[in-house]
Amino acid sequence: MARLKSEGPKKMASTLSKHSLQPSKMPRVKILGTGSFYPERIVNNHEISKKVDTSDEWITERTGIKQRRFSSPDGGEFPTDMARSASLTALKNAGLTPNDIDLIIFATFTPDHRLPSCATILQTKLGITNQCAALDIAAACSGFVYALSLANAMIKSGASQRTLIVGSEMLSRELNWYDRASCILFGDGCGAAVVGVNNDPTDTSDIISCTLAADGTGRKFMELEYGGTAYPLTAEIIDTPKRYMTMQGRELFKVAVRTLADISFSALKMAELTVDQIDWLIPHQANIRIIEATGERLGMPKEKVIVNIQEYGNTSAATVPAAMDGAISEGKIKRGDLLLLTAFGAGLTSGAAVIRY
Ligand code: COA
Repeated sequence: MARLKSEGPKKMASTLSKHSLQPSKMPRVKILGTGSFYPERIVNNHEISKKVDTSDEWITERTGIKQRRFSSPDGGEFPTDMARSASLTALKNAGLTPNDIDLIIFATFTPDHRLPSCATILQTKLGITNQCAALDIAAACSGFVYALSLANAMIKSGASQRTLIVGSEMLSRELNWYDRASCILFGDGCGAAVVGVNNDPTDTSDIISCTLAADGTGRKFMELEYGGTAYPLTAEIIDTPKRYMTMQGRELFKVAVRTLADISFSALKMAELTVDQIDWLIPHQANIRIIEATGERLGMPKEKVIVNIQEYGNTSAATVPAAMDGAISEGKIKRGDLLLLTAFGAGLTSGAAVIRY
């Protein structure tokens, strides 16, 4: 069995610490198939401006977002429902059936329920009967890249052959309508990927490097303190702003740009590649200005950056896999292309991956 090598915590220029896997001497890991799902209901900026004091012009100019999708509150489009659809597409594209999966990693901070996990619910919804391991992870908007990195490690260590990874969010339930700077940003959606061992010696597909980081001192930039064990939801706060997430947008903006670029450079360095070798940058879709500034810092031409924020807004853990799936479906991303995935979120968490698709 291949051994995992860890570089261990290491000081980066940005003061980020990182836990990394070295890619050499390990089996290759391939993205076998991807899928995505967005709820039916389109909510444009005009509709948002009927709820809060804002305008289509302001939102478009400041964020690049024109519309987003909201799940039906009546059911059928909850995170595990969206995940079921996206996963079935990913499995179909991989030429696999649900019982071929031996591990499910589900990234979300808007789970259907507090118990049980979304991953176990998804297992049942997919009709998986092999009792594969299933877990949720909470890394906010970096969730999918975290899940990908964990899957890569599990497969490279021999612990999994084929892992289903999902980022699925129903942020419309958590929107802070008391805060016009944050409620305009988010939407609902899901992206999924099946990753597995690549045994074909002629096939170069691989997850070449993954870098994860977290800086807990940035907690105050985005948090939702209530509803957990420290501050349970009580009758007094249920209809107050305290019940919702708070965000320091301007500060987050600056950290996001710096971090997305730093963590990307770190993943590139580990992969022993340079930006000009990358075919596609798939960044977390938080704000078009963050995406553009990150691209500029990295020196990535605009036409190589996958952007869909105008249509879907920020869907947290779902942005990266859904944008990747969209670009694959459109025929932009082709087998053999080099991809750079980069994400950033509450925590503050961040992660990047270099992939030979
Ligand atoms: N409509 C109209 N005006 C708004 C507004 C809205 N929806 N939201 C804020 N404003 C106003 C502010 O009140 C402020 O007015 P003032 O100058 O009179 O005080 C003005 O616009 C500028 O606010 P500011 O916060 O400086 O705007 P900004 O250019 O930084 O844009 C964000 C705000 C939230 C869009 C931007 O900071 C951002 O995207 N940050 C990152 C957030 C993020 O990505 N979060 C998720 C992380 S994964």
